[in-house]
Amino acid sequence: MKKILIFILCCLVQLVLAQEVESPSKDIKLNVSINNLGEVAYQVSYKGKAVIKPSKLGILLKDGTDLTKDFEAVDTKTASFDETWQPVMGEQTNIRNHYNQLTLQLKQKNSNKRLDIVFKIYDEGVAFRYEFPFEKRVEYFVISDEKTEFNLTGNHKTFWIPGDYDSQEYVYNETKLSEIDNHKLDLNNGIALKTIESRYRVQSPLMMKTADGLYLNIFEAAVVNYPVMHLDVDVNSFELTSNLPPNAIGDKAYLRTPSTTPWRTIMVSDDARDIVASKMIFNLNEPNKLEDTSWIKPMKYVGIWWEMHVGKSTWDYAGSQNAQNALSQDLIPSGKHGATTENTKRYIDFAAKHGFDGVLVEGWNVGWEDWFGNWKEDVFDFVTPYPDFDIEEVARYAKAKGVKMIMHNETSGSVANYERHLDRALELMVKFGYPAVKTGYVGRIIPRGEYHDGQAMVNHFNFVAQRAADYKIMVNSHESTRPTGYSRTYPNYIAAEAARGNEFNGWSNGNPPMHETILPFTRLLGGPMDYTPGIFETQMKIYGDDRKDYMVHTTLTKQLALYLTMYSPLQMAADLPENYEKYLDAFQFIKEVPVDWQESIYLEAEPGDYITVARKDKNSEDWFLGAITDENARSTEIKLDFLEAGKKYKATIYQDGKDADWKTNPKSYDIKTQTVTSKSKLKLNLAKGGGTAISFELVD
Ligand code: NOJ
Ligand code: CA
Repeated sequence: MKKILIFILCCLVQLVLAQEVESPSKDIKLNVSINNLGEVAYQVSYKGKAVIKPSKLGILLKDGTDLTKDFEAVDTKTASFDETWQPVMGEQTNIRNHYNQLTLQLKQKNSNKRLDIVFKIYDEGVAFRYEFPFEKRVEYFVISDEKTEFNLTGNHKTFWIPGDYDSQEYVYNETKLSEIDNHKLDLNNGIALKTIESRYRVQSPLMMKTADGLYLNIFEAAVVNYPVMHLDVDVNSFELTSNLPPNAIGDKAYLRTPSTTPWRTIMVSDDARDIVASKMIFNLNEPNKLEDTSWIKPMKYVGIWWEMHVGKSTWDYAGSQNAQNALSQDLIPSGKHGATTENTKRYIDFAAKHGFDGVLVEGWNVGWEDWFGNWKEDVFDFVTPYPDFDIEEVARYAKAKGVKMIMHNETSGSVANYERHLDRALELMVKFGYPAVKTGYVGRIIPRGEYHDGQAMVNHFNFVAQRAADYKIMVNSHESTRPTGYSRTYPNYIAAEAARGNEFNGWSNGNPPMHETILPFTRLLGGPMDYTPGIFETQMKIYGDDRKDYMVHTTLTKQLALYLTMYSPLQMAADLPENYEKYLDAFQFIKEVPVDWQESIYLEAEPGDYITVARKDKNSEDWFLGAITDENARSTEIKLDFLEAGKKYKATIYQDGKDADWKTNPKSYDIKTQTVTSKSKLKLNLAKGGGTAISFELVD
């Protein structure tokens, strides 16, 4: 009976509009249709294979307007676009933005409500967004749900993390779509993932691989004034639907005409390297809005940071058991405070000696006794130093040594409080010459009811970048929403954490060796990550019995290779100075590796398994290469044909020792040099959890 009904329905539902658009290469085809119920659907194919089955589009408004049906096309327009633009900093000097476009102008038959849907078809994938056009007067409306479908063609392998609206700091699960369910999750915060029936919520970007070898990625770009998109996955039918975090009263977004949603993106290729190399997410963002960008500079930095994460010192001055009034100076020093003037000078000296641009100091300001677990609204004022941190003397000393200080503003999620103090915090940075701030949003959002991924918080993170730009300050946010290419528009938003960083290796079961082979396919598509690589002392047991089971899940040379495979114009040398002093020959690579590039070539890539990338320094003719693997050892041969023909280079190769193994022998490495040309090939042998880092210096 059910089958007969479906058959009758199929006969009744007819297409009244069907339009096809291709990518510039013609490999990707997008078909958009409207049926006689006025429902809009799209489908995508790649080299003749279906990638997205017919999937419906639409939006629900709080006033009851149902923008999923009853549409007719007022007009359809096609266009092509091809430009090349230059990012202020990046993986390459020139980025090509090349696509074909289809605009579908829709009107609802009964209500005359207008909605446009704009599709852009790139060589790497398809993007589309909803646009709410301006008509006779400005209209205000509330989005109660977005009904964007991505109907997949099979039970693909997927790399997913649970759809926590407050955090992306999870280890990736590698399973079939049908195996995304509650039982496999190790959720320490007890968030139920199941939404309804057979649907489970995961985060985007969602990276997948089909049985016939296609790489597929669903994500979004230009998340501005709109919540982050999570995905509800139906584990039986493999149909995905957009899922937007609500605010305290259940609304998803407040908009007015004219406005747009973020771009929904579907990347596809039969070569995984096309996904990691894609600049589609940046291309979909608005161009740079800052006239003067001369003050936006790449930075390598060290900092008073890891010593707190490994328990050697504390953020707080008095010890949290001594918490009284957070903003009171009447605290009894615990003797373990990390951010003292003296210790800061030690790091400044280290930075100056080894040529680092900056020093980050966390725990310099009053409030840390109370920051975690108490959830008071006004823990920090962002301007009052602890008595043992002389901000004026630190600024003077850093300046004399040619080192820049990096400000730290942990908000502990108290966002209204941060916005109240933001201008004074930024003024303080200007006064003492800090060019950058690391912000932090640990814990649940205060005021309560907002999620990190909701519209209000998206606006907050973007606002902080904009406001900081007024003061010529660069921003590196932690615990923010994951970037979706907004650093094209505000290039001072230089990095974010927004994924599980290296820090987890210091105080938890950490990140498995495959973690860093997945991030370039997910988190990094939207912008640079402050992953904080460079941990040479991988055994946490040396810091105390409470950490006896913890270790960094890589070999030492993989930590070097991460400076290449985890692109960021802001890179930390995260370990303690005393650990670097023990391995100065390997540390040389961190000192030399640039963080801004002319060109990047992904030589090998497979999500969850390995990545090899070669990059050319922005300011010289030198090349650098990083190769990493997962828990499996790997041998490969690399052609050096990216080097300039006819030139000679001195290659310095930092590789895993023969007996290296992330678990049993992580610090075994060799460094060798040899002369190479563009005709040379290099054999790389990566240990389990290992990596290779190479510098190619042009010699003649
Ligand atoms: C979490 C951040 O990721 C980390 O880098 C920082 O040290 C702590 N919060 C304290 O702000
Ligand atoms: Ca974090």
